[in-house]
Amino acid sequence: MPGFATTAIHHGYDAQSAQGALVPPIYLSSTFTFTSVEQGAARFAGSEAGHFYTRISNPTLDLLEQRLAALEGGAGAIAFGSGMGAITATLWTLLRPGDEILVDRTVYGCTYAFLHHGIGEFGVRVTHVDMTDLHALATAMLSGPKLVYLETPANPNMRLVDIAAVARLARPHGALLVVDNTYCTPYLQRPLQLGADVVVHSATKYLSGHGDVTAGLAVAADADVAQRIRLQGLKDMTGAVMSPQDAFLLLRGLKTLHLRMERHASNALALARALAAHPAVKQVFFPGLESDPFHALAQRQMKNFGGMLAFELHGGEAAGRAFMNALRLIARAVSLGDAESLAQHPASMTHSTYTPEERAAAGISDGLVRLSAGLEEPEDLLADVLQALAAVHPRLPQPEPQPA
Ligand SMILES: Cc1ncc(COP(=O)(O)O)c(C=O)c1O
Repeated sequence: MPGFATTAIHHGYDAQSAQGALVPPIYLSSTFTFTSVEQGAARFAGSEAGHFYTRISNPTLDLLEQRLAALEGGAGAIAFGSGMGAITATLWTLLRPGDEILVDRTVYGCTYAFLHHGIGEFGVRVTHVDMTDLHALATAMLSGPKLVYLETPANPNMRLVDIAAVARLARPHGALLVVDNTYCTPYLQRPLQLGADVVVHSATKYLSGHGDVTAGLAVAADADVAQRIRLQGLKDMTGAVMSPQDAFLLLRGLKTLHLRMERHASNALALARALAAHPAVKQVFFPGLESDPFHALAQRQMKNFGGMLAFELHGGEAAGRAFMNALRLIARAVSLGDAESLAQHPASMTHSTYTPEERAAAGISDGLVRLSAGLEEPEDLLADVLQALAAVHPRLPQPEPQPA
């Protein structure tokens, strides 16, 4: 099996199948013609391979799906029009009224909203458990959940969950494990190799990497599960199909994923260290810091520590807001994984779908600031963060910028 970068650049494409074109063509056709009525019927019945309508499959999407399945080590992948498309299609497919889904303590705001105000209102029982506490998880498994769902690192507070340990607890009960791998991408973490059954992605983030695509992907360890998600969740339940143009941009983005992730990670580490050393900062949440409670797990489970971090300033929410308003280079924006560094305030933005009480239970404080380290020069990012901290706390002694 070729290595990660080779797979990301070459897998599944033979230039001679497309007149020698180095870059795979974009098939913009929404429908595909049949040589006979019988052939069309056979394609609909699934007894003959071949495309017939782009909401179900398309050659450009197919190449992207094959590539991501290879990178994650899965049997099949399905492309979607957004990360929420991937998540909702997966859960609509795998859950039925009366089922229970066990969810970690912290998840992305719209995933939380879908669970509690979407599928949770259709007879699915949603139970949260702190999956960093394996005893609590073992007890929760006794009620026989159909599915276990987690993010690691969790958006936005950077809690890590031990995927292999959760898989070991879920498997004997026959529960499927679904992991949102958006923060890591398969370059940093491969949940299917650790025992997960399905991986979901917001491909809007690192996988595409340039802030110009809204997209999602699901990858299943089992080909039948992938096919069910395609034919139920995608085709009939959400229709959340990815556009072939976006698949092309994603195929382009994947070619540099390995290079980008290393730079995101080194920039995040430099920012985390500078923040942790600053007197204005109360706490930094980043698994690359030796002092972080998840450092050892991150070393075991991830190839590097990733490009996301979060922190709280002394002075709480007001200080966090003042800091963000003082930024000059780092953009105030939600999303993550872009070339541009982005800062946002989870309590009023990405996680405003939680009530204040729910946010407190999920460990998302009102003062938390989330930072997505981009690809800029580390010195420029550090200078921006230090000047913004100085603007918030002008009377504190300000440390000299250290070389990144
Ligand atoms: C961890 C995580 N999962 C899923 C999503 C949803 O993805 P999308 O915005 O592409 O629908 C996001 C979006 O921010 C996210 O951060």
